[in-house]
This record gives sequence, C-alpha cells and structure tokens, in this order.
Amino acid sequence: MPDGYLAADVPTPQPGTLPQPGTSPQPGTSPQLGTSPQPGASPEPGLQQRLALFNATRFNPALPTATWREDIATQAERLREEGEWLEQRRGAVAGRAAAAPRDADGFVAWFQELERTGPGQGDALFTWLADEASLDEMRWFLTQEVAGEAGFDDLAALTQVKLSQQAKLEVARNYWDEMGRGNPKGMHGPMLEVIADRLGLQPTLATTVPESLALANVMAGLACNRRYAYHSIGALGVIEQTAPSRAILVARGMKRLGIPPQDRHYFDLHAVLDIKHSEAWNAEAIHPLVAENPAVAPAIAEGALMRLEAGLACFERYRAELWGEGAALAAPAAQASESSGRRGFCVR
Ligand SMILES: [Fe+2]
Ligand SMILES: [Fe+2]
Repeated sequence: MPDGYLAADVPTPQPGTLPQPGTSPQPGTSPQLGTSPQPGASPEPGLQQRLALFNATRFNPALPTATWREDIATQAERLREEGEWLEQRRGAVAGRAAAAPRDADGFVAWFQELERTGPGQGDALFTWLADEASLDEMRWFLTQEVAGEAGFDDLAALTQVKLSQQAKLEVARNYWDEMGRGNPKGMHGPMLEVIADRLGLQPTLATTVPESLALANVMAGLACNRRYAYHSIGALGVIEQTAPSRAILVARGMKRLGIPPQDRHYFDLHAVLDIKHSEAWNAEAIHPLVAENPAVAPAIAEGALMRLEAGLACFERYRAELWGEGAALAAPAAQASESSGRRGFCVR
C-alpha cells in the first residue's frame, strides 16, 4: 500500500490560505471540516501543516538555488520540530513495544497479532462505509485519505538504504510490485489518481483534518530519518498487514454506491495483494532483522504502534466528522481552493 506524504501529494500553497514554513499558524487558518478539533485528542493543526509543507519540499527533485544556506536553516528547524513530535509519539507507545518478544519467531507472532488487536483494528467506520455511507460521505472520506497520502513506494525506497541483504531484497520486491513490475499501467500510485479523478476529489492541505496529515507526517518522518529506519520497517509492515481488511470494506461500499470495477480496482487489488506482501514482509524483512539483532525488535514494534495509533486517531476524527453532532459534510469540490497533483492513497 502506498502511504505517507511526499512532495507531489501536497498542493501548492496559496498565499494567504496556508501557513508557510517558518511562520506561526494564524488563527482561523487551520483545517476545519464539519466539527472543531477535539481538545486534547487532536494533534495541533499548525504543526501538522508545517510538517506537511516541509515534507512537500524535502523530497521534491529540485535545482540549486541562491538561498540554499537559508533553506538549510529552515530545514533544521523543521527537523527539530519533527523530532520532538516523533519522540512524543514514540514515548506514547514505548511501554507496549518493550513488552514485545526479542526472539524472531516470538516477535513475528506478536507483530501478526496486531492485525487482530492493534489500535484501530475493526473500527466501525469501515463497516459503515461498506454498508451505509452515502456517495458524498464516501467522497469526503476518500478526499481525506488522498490528501494525507504519502506514497508507499517512495517510503519503501527511503527505508531500504543500507539494510541487511535479506530485508533489502524484500523491500525491493515490494517496491517492484508498487512499480507495476515495470509496466506503467500496473503502477499502484497512478491507480489512485483514477479514483480521485473519476470521483472528482480535490484534496487540499487546508481542508484536510490534522489527524490525516499527522498520519502521513509520521510515515515520512520515520522513513526519512535513519535513526527510525527500523521503526519505518515496522510501520510499513503493519500497513501491509492491516490494509486488506479495510480495503475490502471500502471496495464493497464503492460497489454498493455504483462505482464501476475499473474505478475501484486499486482496492480490489490491495485487498488481495497486501496479504501476500504482509506475509513476505514479516518473513523476509522483520524476521531476519530481529534474528540478526534483537535490539531492533522494540524499534520495529514502536514504529508499527505509532502507525496504528495515528490511524486510530484518523478513524476517530472521521467518525466525529461524519457521524458527530452537527456534522456538516464538507463538499470537497466546492470547498477546495487548491488541488493536489499526483495522489497517493491509503486505506488506513
Ligand atoms: Fe503492498
Ligand atoms: Fe500498493
């Protein structure tokens, strides 16, 4: 599954509408969709927007500029901000992660159990999407997901640098599947664009709930900082492991709403393919890495839990927006002021 928040996923900031890197968030400019952020439960919107914009620039292929020295200073500030936030998120799951076994067989069994009992698993949002959501509600959900997406392919590519051979090969095989095994029509990223285009989704930073941005920011932060390399292995692996059950339900909802098979192919594909990806990731990446060095087990566990907790926060916010008191569905096409280019997608 793709996941994360990379350059091309982020809309071009419009002057006066989005916070710029290095500036303080302005009251009234944070993303609001239907209901107010839940005090104490939601990430601080300004931070997530700043990190999203940072991720939009840090991965973007670019050319030399005259301001590169100043840019480094800004990047350093963002890296510190990102690091503080990731450490906070890591601290919230460290106790649970520390309880995971350190032997490879035991650890993989613990990891597999996350599919059944991990944070956010079996969330009622998805059966509701499958059986009850209206087309507008489904479009709102999909728009949030598209806006907060990062691209599993690039996250995997970033994560595999200098990994041990067996794990590196497994990430490479997974990446090659993401690339359609060399066939552009089989690339996963562009399949998502079909969904967004056919449904007329216009994801924007300003209209994306901070929980969705936070989910992508977690993935990008883990993949980009080598001190979190093993966290990223865990976070990517748990996506593969938990996505199929949700992909099935979203696909069922889209079918019920009359969305044709070719427009929901991405979900049908991942409902099956990610089961195989997960089995291979656990056996060929996680197992050998823990067998080689048991000290990485809690790091892999923390990454998986950080990812699942971020997903759970999304589901809770989505439910509040879609089901909550006075939930005013944002009409994505009407509300959007800027749209993203390439989209990723993730059923999280
Ligand atoms: Fe996958
Ligand atoms: Fe994929």
